[in-house]
Amino acid sequence: MTVRIAPSVLSADLGRLEAQVNAAFAGGADWMHVDVMDGHFVPNLTFGAPMIRALRKLTDRTVDVHLMVERPERYIDEYADAGAGIFTFHPEATVHVQRHLARIREKGMLAGLALNPSTPLAHIEEVMDDLDLVLVMSVNPGYGGQSYIPQATAKIARVRALLDRTASRAALEVDGGITTSTIGAAHAAGADSFVAGTAVFGAADIASAVGALRAACDERA
Ligand code: DX5
Ligand code: ZN
Repeated sequence: MTVRIAPSVLSADLGRLEAQVNAAFAGGADWMHVDVMDGHFVPNLTFGAPMIRALRKLTDRTVDVHLMVERPERYIDEYADAGAGIFTFHPEATVHVQRHLARIREKGMLAGLALNPSTPLAHIEEVMDDLDLVLVMSVNPGYGGQSYIPQATAKIARVRALLDRTASRAALEVDGGITTSTIGAAHAAGADSFVAGTAVFGAADIASAVGALRAACDERA
């Protein structure tokens, strides 16, 4: 099964962003994950369109944007113009989910929904046709460096079953606490895309860290 690695720049040394991003892609990363936090939906405050534009200048690979903000629909047009390839938001943070998914696709981006650990699959069941990506949070959103919540593995398997049952080709991404010790179980449960912040940008050798995550999937496959 597919294995995509998406390092999260939240854990990168922003003073050496170019070198760190290049090292991650040299190690085999597929996407670059951008965590947008507003200090309301989650306690932390990070970055927005300027980070997307900066990455756009550094790479032509997919910029995978994860919005942990209230009313994410306000940023669809701006992030599309900034060069986001994937726009993933939380259904817990807005009302008209289907309208926003359709708008994201109209703007040429892939549309994703992220589910907090306590959020049931019912939040995605009615919009499967509008989804290009489902993100299962394996930590409560807001910070890097947290531990993987073990219950996430069974939730990944349920999402995989839902995608297969509805013949959806959407990517199944998992986010939070992904390391060489946790990625194997998430992959075996059906995830195909893996966000990793600390495990990649916290490593002494970024390129090798990406390779080690991929190898840990193959070992369990
Ligand atoms: C958390 C973010 C994650 C985080 C991952 O709210 O959505 O993307 O940066 O970092 P690690 O891999 O360190 O848990
Ligand atoms: Zn994220």
